[in-house]
Amino acid sequence: MPEESNRLDLAKWAQVESEWTLAETAVANLARVILHGPPGVGKTHLASRVGPALSITLCEDLSVQEIGGHYLPNGTQWSFHYGPVSTAFKEGLPLLIHEMGRASGAVHDFMLAVLDCPDVARLTLPSGETILPGAGFKVIATSNSSPETLDPALRSRFQAEVHLRTPHPELVRRFELLYPRLGRAFADSFKDPERAIDPRRLLSFVELLQKQVALRRAAALTFVDSAPDVLAAFSAAGVRFPCDRS
Ligand SMILES: Nc1ncnc2c1ncn2[C@@H]1O[C@H](COP(=O)(O)OP(=O)(O)OP(=O)(O)O)[C@@H](O)[C@H]1O
Ligand SMILES: [Mg+2]
Repeated sequence: MPEESNRLDLAKWAQVESEWTLAETAVANLARVILHGPPGVGKTHLASRVGPALSITLCEDLSVQEIGGHYLPNGTQWSFHYGPVSTAFKEGLPLLIHEMGRASGAVHDFMLAVLDCPDVARLTLPSGETILPGAGFKVIATSNSSPETLDPALRSRFQAEVHLRTPHPELVRRFELLYPRLGRAFADSFKDPERAIDPRRLLSFVELLQKQVALRRAAALTFVDSAPDVLAAFSAAGVRFPCDRS
């Protein structure tokens, strides 16, 4: 796998506009893809383009039973309830997995079977039933951590991985349309990861401005200690906001 420092050149090398073009190609054409990068750049937004899908967010406390299925009391009987992963697998639906890097060891082991190639993939559930993947089953996983932290066997089951270090161009355009040059200033902030403006905080900042909250107040609430630097960067980029009403 390429070193971190080489990844910036990968989109250029592949002769595409940005890593997002690579991500869109992967999501449109492959059944097991992992997208990783900093918070808020648009990974989930892109993954959601697969249409109606089941979705899970992994964390240390999530059990295999919760995602794969388990027995629940039904009057005097017990009946088996499929979990989101076994449902998507069996019904052939897209499955979005958020925070892929945060699963427990047991869930990672379970995902080895889920992510196998369709010719060998099969899940044996606690009910004893063995299920095969339905025709439309696909997995788009997102993560803030690098797939390098995943178990190598799990990582190799993804057909493609894309490192998305900059915000989706449509998100940049969304800001540019609201306030000219804001999109450019936002995108430029990602040239230095230390100075990168949190996309969700920028959305909140804009929301406050649109509710007539004064500029510095909106910035203090959303960018906290970096508010003076962020406003200075916007000013240097020529962004014009409504008058400060503080
Ligand atoms: N292409 C886009 N066009 C318009 N808005 C977008 C786009 N991508 C993301 N956004 C907006 O940006 C916000 C963050 O996007 P999203 O939830 O996809 O980020 P993420 O990369 O999955 O973050 P995290 O790693 O924290 O889960 C959302 O409010 C979303 O609506
Ligand atoms: Mg997300």
